[in-house]
Amino acid sequence: MNMQTIAIEEISKHTGKKVDLRGWVHRIRSSKGIVFLVLRDSTGIVQCVVKDTVPGFEKAAETGMEASVTLSGTVRKDQRAPGGYEVDVKKFEVVGPSDNFPIREFQSPEFLLDYRHLWIRSQRIQHILKIRSEVTGLIHEFFRKRGYYEIQSPILTQIACEGGSTLFEVKYFGEKAFLAQSWQLHAEAVIHGLEKAYCIAPSFRAEKSRTRKHLAEYWHAEAEAAWMEHEDSMKLQEDLVSYVVQGVLKRRKKELLELGRDLKKLEVIKPPFPRITYEKMIEMLKKEGIRRKWGDDIGVPEEKALSKHFRKPFFIEKWPVHSKAFYMKESDDGKTVLCDDMMMPEAYGELIGGSERETDVKVLEKRMKEFGIKEKDMKSYQFYVDIRKYGSVPHSGFGMGVERLVMWICGIDHIRDTIAFPRVMNRINP
Ligand code: 4AD
Ligand code: MG
Repeated sequence: MNMQTIAIEEISKHTGKKVDLRGWVHRIRSSKGIVFLVLRDSTGIVQCVVKDTVPGFEKAAETGMEASVTLSGTVRKDQRAPGGYEVDVKKFEVVGPSDNFPIREFQSPEFLLDYRHLWIRSQRIQHILKIRSEVTGLIHEFFRKRGYYEIQSPILTQIACEGGSTLFEVKYFGEKAFLAQSWQLHAEAVIHGLEKAYCIAPSFRAEKSRTRKHLAEYWHAEAEAAWMEHEDSMKLQEDLVSYVVQGVLKRRKKELLELGRDLKKLEVIKPPFPRITYEKMIEMLKKEGIRRKWGDDIGVPEEKALSKHFRKPFFIEKWPVHSKAFYMKESDDGKTVLCDDMMMPEAYGELIGGSERETDVKVLEKRMKEFGIKEKDMKSYQFYVDIRKYGSVPHSGFGMGVERLVMWICGIDHIRDTIAFPRVMNRINP
């Protein structure tokens, strides 16, 4: 298309002038020789009026929802129109017709997922995807400003960073392999050279339950740094989350408001974030009437009870040795590890999992056994143990679920809308 079209968001600058527009038919209705058509492009919507004296009026009257069209017309200020402007159409063309667009109002979530390839055009999903794009951009910005290198690590591996229960198995030239649950173990090798590294990459978890915050394929923002201890890691995490939230508030306010987000809840997200230990958490839960014994994990009811006490994200630090993963460094108390979960406010649950890493070969090998890594699989982990033998240094890192962050920032109630094509237990199409 060689037209000099303008973007719909620019329309106010062209009051009284003739413009060319292109986009899709968002809504359409006709009455007595006049067609009212709401045109959509990636920047917004505008009402366009086609009278029966206009060339192409018949085509306009027959146009279906979501047809792609081009038009020329004059911009007029009109208080009654959505957005405050209207276009008096002088010329109208259909580019790609659309008959019987299958999505109507009030469709079930499952129906909308079946038609995700079309539902993706909705205003709601567009607002969320714009915010998501801002979020990933801000994560890159944050790490690069602090001297972190972006690195990629293998997706096909033979290791289970986060335990065996959520592994996706694939065939690898006659051998068994898995889709990566995290980049962490390879990143630990990398930072003995680059010192500071980060990534935003897909992670895979065969989550067998259907919840509002688990995907089978999600995007994982991870960081790892040499010489970084547990405390510094938590500082980095709260700085990162604050940077992203404040950046989205500044750059995507319009979309947040369109989604109905209460901005005050985001404005307060600035460091420092409160910290509690696992032990303190057990006490707090007890006061809420929830009994959890040493070593137990927490779920949605516990997250809800705890989040009542915090307006900002909060850390739960120092979990019992066997409640987390094999690679975490033991604390001085001998019964906990130097780790943290960052929990989101408003009961959105876990956003980040991080820890200082065990560097003592003996302790590490003992833990690997305790965590059920079999002798026959040890060859795949040999590289990981090896790192500790040659110039090992204290180091820490963490992983943040991009979709979890987008879900909370947008204030939406299900993770599926934070990614263009969600993968969950019962769905791999479209
Ligand atoms: O707590 P997790 O399992 O930690 C790790 O994978 C570490 N190896 C990270 C590291 O230290 N480099 O996962 C980290 C985060 C969680 O806090 C959560 O936000 C997200 O990843 N996450 C998921 N997001 C969506 N769907 C799932 N199934 C997720 N599982 C974890
Ligand atoms: Mg975790």
